[in-house]
Amino acid sequence: MKKLLALAVAGCMALSLAACGGSTASSAPAASSEAASSAAESAAESVAESTAAGGKIGVCIYKFDDAFMTTYRNALQEILEGKGYEVTVVDGNNDQNKQNEQINTFITQGVDALIINPVMTSAADQIISTVKDADVPTVLINREPTADQMSAYEKLVYVGCDAAQSGTMQGELILDTENKGDINGDGKVSYIMIQGDPENIDAQLRTEYSVKALTDAGVEVEQLDLQRGDWDRNKGQEIAQNDLAKFGDQIEVVFCNNDDMAIGALQAIQAAGRTVNSDIYLVGVDALDAALNEVEAGNMTGTVLNDAKGQASQAVECMEELLGGKTFAAGEQSVYVDYVKVTPDNVAEFK
Ligand code: GAL
Repeated sequence: MKKLLALAVAGCMALSLAACGGSTASSAPAASSEAASSAAESAAESVAESTAAGGKIGVCIYKFDDAFMTTYRNALQEILEGKGYEVTVVDGNNDQNKQNEQINTFITQGVDALIINPVMTSAADQIISTVKDADVPTVLINREPTADQMSAYEKLVYVGCDAAQSGTMQGELILDTENKGDINGDGKVSYIMIQGDPENIDAQLRTEYSVKALTDAGVEVEQLDLQRGDWDRNKGQEIAQNDLAKFGDQIEVVFCNNDDMAIGALQAIQAAGRTVNSDIYLVGVDALDAALNEVEAGNMTGTVLNDAKGQASQAVECMEELLGGKTFAAGEQSVYVDYVKVTPDNVAEFK
């Protein structure tokens, strides 16, 4: 099943507007195999080239203590090491000043490329100007700067997903239920929203578009509460627990901007004696293993695959293009991997 998924992902990536690894993008390896005088020589040379791809790569993660980014960074490390790069992955501890120092240290150490998951979206200008001054090719991941900010440096690419799409899909998961989320039949969907870090565009757009999918479909909504859970399981549990005590049966839908908070919310839902898909709906994003299990068991209405492995391999492809000398024109510096809706019907494909 994983293979099926990989194929689906490859298909989606091929559709992405500015996907790295496209026909215009593979010049470096092709040039060396053309120079070889026989097929055998050319094969040997390309093997040598890929194992010796070499180079020092610095990877900055906003914080290690984040469930989704843990899967993502492990995938990045595995892919990069598998290709023969010398990789150092550092933990920003959710502190932008610390990450700025880490970036400077990598630059002083002479890394060939950087992959950076910024701590703060608002730090994008400063990060971009630092890597530009040092002339280090850089792939930004997970927190998207504006096209305008990225246009300052042509050896810079962003790899991520279109966060609005994941929000829309969460709303669709609710619209796909038998009562479109209106469990008590009072003509409106009453929900609580457990938000990620509100500084993060993923949190902003998922919050907006999950609800927009309902209102666009003509469904009336009522927001009972919106609180920041900072992507964190414990905070998700606390917020849901308080809201369930306060609003009780009024809550029909629990929207969580990610799965880790949804798993926390599920603990509170179960402790309150409520039953998902019967008297309350619960949706998340990421398709963490724990969430896939809960979707399969009917304890979550659904989730949305945030494809960590697909994004990691796309980030490495883009990095290799930059290392091969490719530059990216303004307006073409964002590469998106598609989200995928996960329900009990297709969950097995993701496990
Ligand atoms: C989101 C992901 C969250 C969290 C966040 C960190 O894309 O869904 O779980 O990891 O990134 O920026």
